Amino acid sequence: MAGTQQEEMDFGSDSERMKKRTVEGGLLITFEGGEGVGKSTQAERLFHKLQSFGIDSIQAQEPGSSDLGNNVRSWIKRANSSSPLAETLLFEAARAQLMFETVRPALDRGKVVVLDRYTDSTLAYQGYARGGDLQTITQLNNIATANLEPHLTVLLDLDPKVSLARVNNEPDLFSGADSGSPTRVDDEGQRRFEDQPMNFHQNIRNGYLEMSKKDSRWCVIKADQAGHRIADAILKRVRRLLIERAIPEAVFRS
Ligand code: TYD
Repeated sequence: MAGTQQEEMDFGSDSERMKKRTVEGGLLITFEGGEGVGKSTQAERLFHKLQSFGIDSIQAQEPGSSDLGNNVRSWIKRANSSSPLAETLLFEAARAQLMFETVRPALDRGKVVVLDRYTDSTLAYQGYARGGDLQTITQLNNIATANLEPHLTVLLDLDPKVSLARVNNEPDLFSGADSGSPTRVDDEGQRRFEDQPMNFHQNIRNGYLEMSKKDSRWCVIKADQAGHRIADAILKRVRRLLIERAIPEAVFRS
């Protein structure tokens, strides 16, 4: 349909160009992955790209993006040990608040929501890595989100030996790979999950890969490539999704 008359009509006048594009029912795009894979950078990049196309979008992160979420984030970094269930309930509480305050209203207005971590993080971290019961976590995920499934989940997949070296600012094993992920130490100066043993991180990775085989909403991208290549691969998939949801192709040439 590239460059057809219909597209010119859809996207022709200046006032049309100024109008932000929305999607019927909204679109939820989540980003997942282990520590140091460059997920937050890519989520941010996608959000800015969507905005540059005039697509009405917001970005948020879990835990965070609400007062409750920020408190959970700060607590999780400080707590020395907690039961997987207690952790799960805290993440779910923060999630329920984020759904109520931000995500649902945005989707109701037809916005694209770019969310850095969502329900799959709880399955990967508190389930596959910390040994929490997957069925219970799935039920709690469903309660917290009223069964809201993402339309697309981008999984940035990387061997934890490489991603943790990035987090610790060691030289990248993949020359030319641009992680776009600066070493991050939270306010408390602690990096609780990053400091877990290697098999914890392997379990997170394996858990994500197992989940990604079960559902077509997943888009698995190898994170050992240059940042701009990762961004291009993500954008290609998102464009396809948006075109399927009636966003004219011409929008992406602006
Ligand atoms: P954060 O500093 O945001 O890490 P990242 O940039 O990797 O997302 O800290 C969030 C931490 O919380 C991160 O280690 C993953 C963890 N987490 C869970 O364990 N379960 C969850 O449900 C969520 C949302 C996050």
